[in-house]
Amino acid sequence: MIIAIDGPAASGKGTLARRLAAHYGLPHLDTGLLYRAVGHAMLEAGLSLEDEAAAARIAARIDPAAYDEETLKAGPVGEAASRVASVPEVRKALLFLQKSFAHQPGGAVLDGRDIGTVIAPEADAKLFVTASAQARAERRWHELLKRGEQLGLDDVLADIRKRDARDSGRSSAPLVQAADAMLLDNTALGVEESWQQALALVAARL
Ligand code: C5P
Repeated sequence: MIIAIDGPAASGKGTLARRLAAHYGLPHLDTGLLYRAVGHAMLEAGLSLEDEAAAARIAARIDPAAYDEETLKAGPVGEAASRVASVPEVRKALLFLQKSFAHQPGGAVLDGRDIGTVIAPEADAKLFVTASAQARAERRWHELLKRGEQLGLDDVLADIRKRDARDSGRSSAPLVQAADAMLLDNTALGVEESWQQALALVAARL
């Protein structure tokens, strides 16, 4: 049983993926952490994000478990992740790990941008989770405030729009809803309503 969850930044896909994994007793992979680990390693090594060959080399031997999630979830790392994620050789280097995770015995839940289209096109249930850029920016802004990162809502919104444009506009595995993915737009939904809808959509496919 493979459950594929895709969607833009701050759509709530990670929370839904974690809850679905717990609900069905499946392992979960947040694939954004792989790209974040590569981005973080580039920044740490003082490498230019333009250096595609270095990014591909790092991606080929990245171990996301080497970094704590808190570090990888920081704002600048997300931006670096989105930059290296547009490099086809980086995506290629991370493909095997993700495909293997998806196809482990018993199944898995994966969330990211290209799970339903590239990593596991044969997934049993695919969800495309989204919300308006404004709603996502407000959620991210609240999250950042809680973590003590003082940013203006306008800056967060601009960052979300920039990331959306880069993730959707790249030529290699762009963010796009798979033809057979079920759409969950949670702009006007609370966390609990979003979860109930996600569960109902997925359960109908399994
Ligand atoms: O989901 P998250 O914000 O952690 O992802 C960080 C960045 O990694 C995204 O902006 C996107 O560019 C990239 N990513 C990707 N493909 C995935 C997961 C993440 O390109 N499957």
